Amino acid sequence: MTNDTLRLERISSDNFDAAVAVRVRPDQEHAVSPVMKSLAEAYVHPRTAWPRLILDGDRPVGFLMAFFDIAWVGTSADLRSGLWRLNIAADEQGKGYGRFAVESVAAEIRRRGGTGLYVTWHPGPTGPEPFYLGLGFSPTGETSGGQTVGVLNLT
Ligand SMILES: CC(C)(COP(=O)(O)OP(=O)(O)OC[C@H]1O[C@@H](n2cnc3c(N)ncnc32)[C@H](O)[C@@H]1OP(=O)(O)O)[C@@H](O)C(=O)NCCC(=O)NCCS
Repeated sequence: MTNDTLRLERISSDNFDAAVAVRVRPDQEHAVSPVMKSLAEAYVHPRTAWPRLILDGDRPVGFLMAFFDIAWVGTSADLRSGLWRLNIAADEQGKGYGRFAVESVAAEIRRRGGTGLYVTWHPGPTGPEPFYLGLGFSPTGETSGGQTVGVLNLT
């Protein structure tokens, strides 16, 4: 894997089957929704959801879905952007693809003028907390549906 070979692709009829075939490890399934559910949510939230297949060369290795400018607490006073879903395929983990996904979403948020990348994660031993903390995310002190809210400062 080199950064030159990594890319994101819009979900289309050409890569739909490859996208829904991305599966995390069984012990991680509590931590993230299946890709099929994310794509259904993207269908009903077309203005905020940004689903993408992660490819290394032509090999699908994961799936991400970002969100842009949602009213976090139901008011327009606190618009946030971030990572809604991140699924790296079970046998492709530990190769830098998750880091690439976070960096790609950070770049897209910056391009749109945003200054923070928000994410929520399930606390617990098989959850992604060490991954996010290692990439520089800090807990905001909030929770959302029992999940920890974290933010990466992009300024
Ligand atoms: C969490 C997840 C996205 C990480 O993706 P990944 O491709 O395996 O992570 P990377 O290889 O890019 O790792 C980047 C860094 O994080 C570290 N890291 C990754 N997972 C880690 C873990 N569980 N514990 C500690 N460190 C971890 C890596 O060691 C690496 O550190 P380094 O650069 O210092 O070597 C992936 O394991 C996954 O899809 N998990 C299941 C679903 C999930 O929890 N998604 C998040 C929903 S919010």
